[in-house]
Amino acid sequence: MLNDPILLNDWHVVAYAPDLQEGRPMAVRLLEEELVLWRSGDKVHAWRDLCLHRGTRLSLGKVEQNCLVCPYHGWTYDEEGQCIRFPAHPQQKPPATAHARVYQAREHYNWIWVTLGQPTQDIPPFPHLGERDVPQNPLWSLFLSSEWTTCHREFSGRNAFSVCASGAIG
Ligand code: FES
Repeated sequence: MLNDPILLNDWHVVAYAPDLQEGRPMAVRLLEEELVLWRSGDKVHAWRDLCLHRGTRLSLGKVEQNCLVCPYHGWTYDEEGQCIRFPAHPQQKPPATAHARVYQAREHYNWIWVTLGQPTQDIPPFPHLGERDVPQNPLWSLFLSSEWTTCHREFSGRNAFSVCASGAIG
């Protein structure tokens, strides 16, 4: 993972929300961290894409009953990232250490946002946009992307976003 506290503690766009379908985990990469995105109900999850058992990518797994199931030996992780079942040892309670690395994830402006750290600020507001207004468009992705957001925040402040969102790009 990239060791940059400013980037780690900020929100980043990682996927177009409609592309993340219920029951179909998705692999993405953020700041050199491999992530699995998945949905359960109206929640979006972003975890390190790694099963604690033998290191299989959880993004190759499946979603069952609001749990993410590893494709290799079926370790089953609940929404909090805790493994709750070892299929090979169904009587054994998984220890607390059998816990996926979980990050904060949100669905906002039709995109999936993730932070790998502890942001002190929320996702930047775009007052001219409705929740579903932002189309799948590379320019919008760029506009909302982490580098742009962070740089712009550093040099221009947050109010600049509303100017751009009012129609400068789209
Ligand atoms: S590698 Fe995931 S259950 Fe074995």
